[in-house]
Amino acid sequence: MIDASLLDRAVEVLASARRIVAFTGAGMSAESGIPTFRDAGGLWQRFPPDQFANWKGLTRLAERDPRHLAEFLEAVVAPLAAAEPNAGHRALTELARHAEVTVVTQNVDGLHQAAGSPIVWEVHGSLVDIVDDDGDTLFVLDRSRLRHLASRLGRLARQSRASASGAFALALRRFYGRKGGRAYRPSIVLFGDAMPELAWSEAVDACGRCDCLLQVGSSTTVYPAAFLPAQARAAGAAVITIDPRPGDGDALWLSGKAGEVLPVLVRRAFGDRGNSA
Ligand code: OAD
Repeated sequence: MIDASLLDRAVEVLASARRIVAFTGAGMSAESGIPTFRDAGGLWQRFPPDQFANWKGLTRLAERDPRHLAEFLEAVVAPLAAAEPNAGHRALTELARHAEVTVVTQNVDGLHQAAGSPIVWEVHGSLVDIVDDDGDTLFVLDRSRLRHLASRLGRLARQSRASASGAFALALRRFYGRKGGRAYRPSIVLFGDAMPELAWSEAVDACGRCDCLLQVGSSTTVYPAAFLPAQARAAGAAVITIDPRPGDGDALWLSGKAGEVLPVLVRRAFGDRGNSA
């Protein structure tokens, strides 16, 4: 249950904002069935990030323990292949009909775009955007390819270790590999990688110019992305946080799920002005 007076204040702030940034993390997509990283049962509890969240660790696993890597990739790809935008994603799309909204997301699932948000900057890249060495997009994986990849990875994860290696490279070839001497891979940002230049500079710019930042479903523990809410605050923006965790002393912390709180917040702030679309 959201504190009513806190909600009233957040509604007031949002309704008077002209430029809004929605800064989103894994919790934004939790109600779409995609696991977060650091909650109980989260991805990094099952797969330690020192092995699974950097290219060196993943490459080592591909050579030494492809079955374990297939298990991890299945855990990442299968929920994404089945995911649809939730009520929180849709509420942010609705919000963009009433104010200038820039979505800055750490998520790699493409669900803000699928929900129709017009401006989305993916500061940790995308799992479905397959790029070459220069970062140019070669193709975008559609749902059916993701489902196919997830089921092959699932089979590999349950195979014996010895037989997995060749089949693993084969299963991944739509996703990761080399062609004509050039490497290709999803545009995701792992630990130690540079931030994507354009997305990052646009995100920094939007956070410096906004009058309200909605921080949704992020533990704000991973830098440099986690600097962005603080940057917006320092530039004078009001920060409204939506997260089921108890507040950390923030004045406008709404404890609840994105798919429950965001629709109420947007409807209360703009519902009576009608749908301007
Ligand atoms: P985390 O897993 O660190 O944090 C998820 C946040 O979502 C927590 O604060 C949860 O309380 C909250 N949450 C859970 N369910 C929610 C719901 N239904 N609605 C709203 N909030 C909910 O995920 P991120 O902060 O996104 O980066 O993690 C940041 C980065 O760490 C990721 O982009 C990834 C990871 O390592 C890289 O791999 C580079």
